[in-house]
Amino acid sequence: MKILGIDTSCDETAAAVVANGKEVLSNIVASQIEVHQEYGGVVPELASRKHIEAINYIVHKALAAADVTFKDLEAIAVTNRPGLIGALLVGVAAAKSLAYCHNLPLLGINHIEGHIYANYMVHDDLTFPHVCLTVSGGHTLLVEVHEGWRYKVLGSTQDDAAGEVYDKVAKYLGLGFPGGKIIDDLAQKGNPSAIDFPRPMRNSGDYQFSFSGIKTSVRYFVEKARRAGIRIENGQVNGKNTDSDTVTVEDIAASFQAAVVDVLTYKSVAAAKSTGAKTITLTGGVAANSALRATLKTAAAEIGAEVYYPPMNLCTDNGAMIAGIAYQKYQQGLRDELSLNATPNGAIEEKK
Ligand code: KG4
Ligand code: ZN
Repeated sequence: MKILGIDTSCDETAAAVVANGKEVLSNIVASQIEVHQEYGGVVPELASRKHIEAINYIVHKALAAADVTFKDLEAIAVTNRPGLIGALLVGVAAAKSLAYCHNLPLLGINHIEGHIYANYMVHDDLTFPHVCLTVSGGHTLLVEVHEGWRYKVLGSTQDDAAGEVYDKVAKYLGLGFPGGKIIDDLAQKGNPSAIDFPRPMRNSGDYQFSFSGIKTSVRYFVEKARRAGIRIENGQVNGKNTDSDTVTVEDIAASFQAAVVDVLTYKSVAAAKSTGAKTITLTGGVAANSALRATLKTAAAEIGAEVYYPPMNLCTDNGAMIAGIAYQKYQQGLRDELSLNATPNGAIEEKK
């Protein structure tokens, strides 16, 4: 059973064809990074316009790459929440038109459920319940995932998403966009204990997150250093710079990353421990982070839990994860009307 999945929730125009919820026949993504790069973040209006330009081409490319036509499809699934409203609307309008023209069932999908599902597409031994940490440019949340794709949201960020903070810190340091990979690479050459950035809400006793305080601390640190005439420069190859008038970008990156990773790891492992889950799944763009993967694996092993993450093309925004979870929802009887609308703030529906 083949489903076309469409996602235009942020800055990627994505379409994919997936058979039986797992077999990825095609997974096409048109990135808008170059458009948003000069602004150091995603500009919603530009994102919508770019989606309009790309959507038909990307859908047809996904069908061609999967070697199917609309006649071979059983349904069309589209992300209709949460995300940038103008961006979401482009995907939803396209999916509705195609469903109407080709007389196919339409399914509106929650983007976060797609991210959560991504691990299931590649890890056949994934058991339930497991704890899923979704970390991307738009989201940071911990969810307990039960059989039948029933969820209990344990906690989420109270302000910025982790990826958003990576992007902002990269902007303060003039490193480019998106900042995650750049900071990750620099951090590997720096000293994570060089600067003691705060770990907001680490010991709050719940599973909520807050990252804007870390971001502000880095900003103040950078501004204070610059005012004091301290140069912020790339360090030596080993990341150490003995010049006392210089602080290395590598040390700032490593110390910032240590703070973010520490909080994410601590809460994810605490969640696995308290729920008894033996697997922690990692998903979203920040799941590519080398320190997060390594630190979480080590900490999870201490409580006998394993960490799973999908390949990069299923970690970041894509249509395959949408078609995948849509297959499960289709089996459960979900069908949407052509009156389906987009909404920016869709929380995950919690089912007992
Ligand atoms: O899932 P994604 O592609 O899009 C959203 O739904 O936001 O995630 C993009 C985010 C960006 O904020 C980017 O900086 C971050 O993921 N990211 C990383 C890494 N690679 C991408 N953050 C930390 N370390 C990385 N290696
Ligand atoms: Zn996403």
